[in-house]
Amino acid sequence: MGRALELAERGRGTTSPNPMVGCVLAQGDEIVGEGWHQRAGEPHAEVLALRSAGTRGRGATAYVTLEPCDHQGRTPPCSEALISAGVARVVVATLDPDARVAGRGLERLRAAGIEVTLGVLEDEARVHNAAYLTQRRTGRPWVRYKTAMTLDGKIATRTGRSRWITGVESRALVQRWRHEHDVVAVGVTTVLRDDPMLTARVADGRTPHKLVFDSVARTPVQAALFEADAYGVRARVTIATGPGAPAARVAALRERGATLLQSDDGRGRPSVQQTLAWLAEAGALSLLLEGGGTLAWSFAEAQAIDRVAWFVAPKLLGGGGASPLGGLGVATMDEALTLERTEVRRVGEDLLVEGDLRYPAWVVEAAAQTESAAQTDGAANTAGSAGADGGAAAVAAAPAAPAAAGSTAAPAHISSTTAPAPTGSTTAPAHIGSTTAAPAVEGED
Ligand SMILES: NC(=O)c1ccc[n+]([C@@H]2O[C@H](COP(=O)([O-])OP(=O)(O)OC[C@H]3O[C@@H](n4cnc5c(N)ncnc54)[C@H](OP(=O)(O)O)[C@@H]3O)[C@@H](O)[C@H]2O)c1
Repeated sequence: MGRALELAERGRGTTSPNPMVGCVLAQGDEIVGEGWHQRAGEPHAEVLALRSAGTRGRGATAYVTLEPCDHQGRTPPCSEALISAGVARVVVATLDPDARVAGRGLERLRAAGIEVTLGVLEDEARVHNAAYLTQRRTGRPWVRYKTAMTLDGKIATRTGRSRWITGVESRALVQRWRHEHDVVAVGVTTVLRDDPMLTARVADGRTPHKLVFDSVARTPVQAALFEADAYGVRARVTIATGPGAPAARVAALRERGATLLQSDDGRGRPSVQQTLAWLAEAGALSLLLEGGGTLAWSFAEAQAIDRVAWFVAPKLLGGGGASPLGGLGVATMDEALTLERTEVRRVGEDLLVEGDLRYPAWVVEAAAQTESAAQTDGAANTAGSAGADGGAAAVAAAPAAPAAAGSTAAPAHISSTTAPAPTGSTTAPAHIGSTTAAPAVEGED
């Protein structure tokens, strides 16, 4: 199973909206076939491993990192492929929570007389596929919050500059993460101050879909994030606005090719939960939140940060500049957010502290209340709740996503910059994903 996980890992950054999966076929101690899922629309890991094993697949044990699928997508069910090949035993690391699988893949194998073992290296498999499992379980993308601060806790100078806090090695790692995530998100103040491109300067990498939280559509049409990257690829840009975004600004951004998603967090800003639910419905599994601290606090309040990546640079700036987590802050130490599965390492001259975020009761309760309020609003509002840009709706009523948090409508199409969503479209959400030379795929499998 360790080898199967290693193979699955090769698909990081290219399989979305599908999960990463690896498969090894063995006869006793001898590996007779290997495969991993490389890209949505292409064969699944089990099929590739069976192909490479040929007739030696008969009677073999298959080690698979995720429960084999049991539904016909763009490729046939893997459960049937394993049965037809005559494997004797299937060892699986973790169940697939997708409503179309959810134990059915294993049931079908057992019904065909195949011995099934579940839970081998399950914790490792869950960490490895956290994005897919979180999206299926919660109805929002898995979120990594990356921030870079000085030793005295500042993310920018007193004039609002943050280039560069970290060294070249840390920045290269962030570029890699951009390639691996489906969406990269920032607050509008970061756009106005830093004018970032948000591209992944990784050879053969992809530039993720870019998302700006911007209540009143202040993102300049000449912002660098609209530009093509070093490989000539122009990424899709989405602006999440609040209810009061002026129609003229919205129209200008649509004209520039952005998709506008409008929602209301009750404070005149776009709702983090609603926006994330829409992104998940459009196929996004993972989001790299790059700040600043004001937006990060809203994500934390919505219980929508899964893992943090905190770079600490050996520099001191002084003053009272922006911090990695803004908002009101907590009153007592009991109310602190804490980290689990914490790792600390050096990256060049910087320190990197990573951990899974654990939320205190006050956040859990507040986030649940916001979600139920959004559901009530949504029920009263149905399709209209996702309207955008002063009349030219970029979103339309859509089927409820599996376990979507408070979502009542979905973006009909998260469009590319060259093909904005048609007004009033009712097509299913398109995949948010690769913007490399390969065209974005529609749907899974
Ligand atoms: N070192 C680093 O890692 C790093 C990373 C990023 C940024 N920075 C620095 O951080 C500074 C900016 O940070 P910041 O905290 O002031 O701003 P920010 O988080 O980039 O943007 C905050 C703004 O986003 C808008 N927004 C829209 N929806 C929101 C929501 N639901 N919740 C919260 N905000 C929402 C709000 O403006 P509207 O109401 O007008 O929409 C808000 O004022 C810059 O100086 C930048 O250079 C540093």
